Amino acid sequence: MAQITAQSLHTAIYVLREELAGAVAAVATQADAEAFRITFLSRNGKVASLFEAMKSLPGPDKPVFGKKLNELKHYAEGIFAEAAARVESAAAAAPSQVDLTLPGRTLPAGSLHPVTQTLNEIKSIFVAMGFDIANGPEIEDDYHNFEALNFHPNHPARDMQDTFFVSKDVLLRTHTSPVQIRTMKKQQPPIRTIMPGRVYRNEAISARSYCTFHQVEGLFVDKHVSFSELKGTLVAFAKQFYGNDIKYKFRPSYFPFTEPSLEMDISCFLCKGKGCRICKQSGWLEVLGAGMVHPNVFRNVGIDPEEFTGYAFGMGVDRTALLRHGINDIRLLFENDVRFLRQF
Ligand code: PHE
Repeated sequence: MAQITAQSLHTAIYVLREELAGAVAAVATQADAEAFRITFLSRNGKVASLFEAMKSLPGPDKPVFGKKLNELKHYAEGIFAEAAARVESAAAAAPSQVDLTLPGRTLPAGSLHPVTQTLNEIKSIFVAMGFDIANGPEIEDDYHNFEALNFHPNHPARDMQDTFFVSKDVLLRTHTSPVQIRTMKKQQPPIRTIMPGRVYRNEAISARSYCTFHQVEGLFVDKHVSFSELKGTLVAFAKQFYGNDIKYKFRPSYFPFTEPSLEMDISCFLCKGKGCRICKQSGWLEVLGAGMVHPNVFRNVGIDPEEFTGYAFGMGVDRTALLRHGINDIRLLFENDVRFLRQF
């Protein structure tokens, strides 16, 4: 400031005060605060330069302006202190800086249980053939699990050896066949449904058997459903599921709710029928039971056996899952040890 007058210094003080007020409002970071300090409050800052200019005022004006400039300086220091405190506490509250170059943390991704995978595959094959999917309760009554399925009141399957009873009449279903009864009571033919689910049997627990496992039931009821259609469907399924090159055979069998009944064996897909530990050297694996729906079962659900025929089948799921993955102990499927499950 070259030729200073009282008037121009007065104006300069006013202008600087305005400038200070504007600049302090814009202070957002600690770096801004430091820039503010250097611009206005340092030894060569704008406030100091007005003190310097004041020196060339005529003598009597000096004390007056000295006072005004001191006020300005106090004002500037005060707002600076406030702003510095404000940005400092904001910085302390802010999260620590993010290092965007750090590698990401991988979250452990879950996987489907081997039994679920096997169930899904079985379901998709039958759904592609036109079957619906139905579910039923795992806690059943004697009527649905046995009586309506044509089990004689003294049938040994009702025995405490096989069935977990909740009370005299309530039990954990021993197979998925009670869902056949529930489906046929709800729906008139044509019925083409599979019924996957968990079943329970009071068996000694070992590497080969467990107190719970999974089955998939199948039911087809319509006019003129034939035994050869049953066999054709089972063969089509087995080839898709176990492989085109498997051999299969049907053995006559007995179930109270089907007549005639059969069981299906397939050539062991591990040893290709040569004989191994899994198929107990026989070369064959038993995979399912099936048959034509017994007329008594139709009568029990109110379907006329003179008008309709049907087939039903039931297959185990867990043993298949074991065989496919080369697992040698069924208990592993139910213990839910993540070190085991992580492998699938
Ligand atoms: N429910 C029978 C079982 O658990 C299997 C089966 C189902 C047989 C349907 C025939 C028809 O062994």
